[in-house]
Amino acid sequence: MKKFLFIVSGLFFIGTSVLADQISDGKAYFTQTTCNTCHSLTSKKEPSHTGPALYGTTKRYSKEWLVSWISDPEEMLKKDAIAKKLLVESGNIPMTPMLKLMNKKPDGSVDTALVKTKAEAIYAFLKDNDSKPDGGDLTAIKKKKN
Ligand code: HEC
Repeated sequence: MKKFLFIVSGLFFIGTSVLADQISDGKAYFTQTTCNTCHSLTSKKEPSHTGPALYGTTKRYSKEWLVSWISDPEEMLKKDAIAKKLLVESGNIPMTPMLKLMNKKPDGSVDTALVKTKAEAIYAFLKDNDSKPDGGDLTAIKKKKN
């Protein structure tokens, strides 16, 4: 029994630390992939941003939809009804497929596996951000400096 409990608590520990790693990776990818130049993490859209404020997105969309959207908005705008509606609501400014553009194999083709890993990490980061009252993870950092 003791051994069993030890294994269970060990797995729980590994599980939570993997998630914590994924969230911090996602946060790094969010800035590396320049998502922050077009999106705020609070519910307030900044004047310099072309994209909508992202606070609450993980509550409004399914994980599957968000991972697909973040991975390849270009493809989604071709075939997905929600994406098409979003484009109209955003004044017909399409989101640049940053992850796709920035993660290519040496032969120039898109590294889809890497794009998916990064999109899932960004999703974990956005979900964590949505669990905070002000949502502004990066904005909070910026506020402190001012
Ligand atoms: C060059 C500007 C730009 C960049 C960079 C960008 N986006 Fe966007 N994003 C947009 C625009 C514009 C929309 C509105 C949808 C549309 O018209 O395509 C959008 C929509 C979204 C949405 C849906 C929001 C909602 O409320 O419906 C999410 C989520 C999102 N982007 C996440 C990301 C992530 C994550 C990254 C980084 C990998 C990123 N965006 C990079 C411009 C950008």
